[in-house]
Amino acid sequence: MGGQFITFEGGEGTGKSTQLGLLSARLRTHGLDVVETREPGGPIRKLLVEGDQDWDPMAEALLHFAARADHLAATVRPALAAGQTVLCDRFADSTMAYQGYAQGLGRKTVEDIYALVVGDLKPDLTLILDLPIETGLERAIRRDIDETRYERMGPEFHEILREAFRDIAEQEPDRCVLIDANHPVDTVHEAIWVVVQDRLGLS
Ligand code: TMP
Repeated sequence: MGGQFITFEGGEGTGKSTQLGLLSARLRTHGLDVVETREPGGPIRKLLVEGDQDWDPMAEALLHFAARADHLAATVRPALAAGQTVLCDRFADSTMAYQGYAQGLGRKTVEDIYALVVGDLKPDLTLILDLPIETGLERAIRRDIDETRYERMGPEFHEILREAFRDIAEQEPDRCVLIDANHPVDTVHEAIWVVVQDRLGLS
């Protein structure tokens, strides 16, 4: 049997990386072989998250999917084939929310590129961390020095994003669970743990 593919999604500063690390540690105490990874990665990341290049939204989506194609081939698919549990900080729902909704590319275009690049693979579980945009942006701006391109996109952009992620969660309730991230780290972790335990059948 292949491993489980769990993705973390949400806007800026919602605590995805922290929660991914906590979940990873807890899954390991249950004996699972966990791989932690993130998108966008590799040399393409810098093009997208730094500077202030005004990419055409299609070009931007394709860059994210180019990084994803490589990431799937090099990391995700081999790990799943080896039965490992893959925890991924952002995946294609980010392209749908950021490029599809907030940058106006549209759902259908992102779905079409997904079909071409990713095919039938889907995360087994997607945890969508939801937080008021002011709280998240404040955290993100305090933390990041260079990787600020998306953080600087303005409040309307980030409001659309938040709604986009909520919409995605509503459209795919079997795969996605919306997590209220406006609580202390441990409380959010426990909420995530309840969901993951249930989905993975852990006790
Ligand atoms: P991170 O800071 O959470 O690692 O994510 C990098 C930035 O890239 C974040 O602002 C969201 C953005 N992004 C997209 O716009 N589209 C995508 O497909 C992905 C994976 C990330």
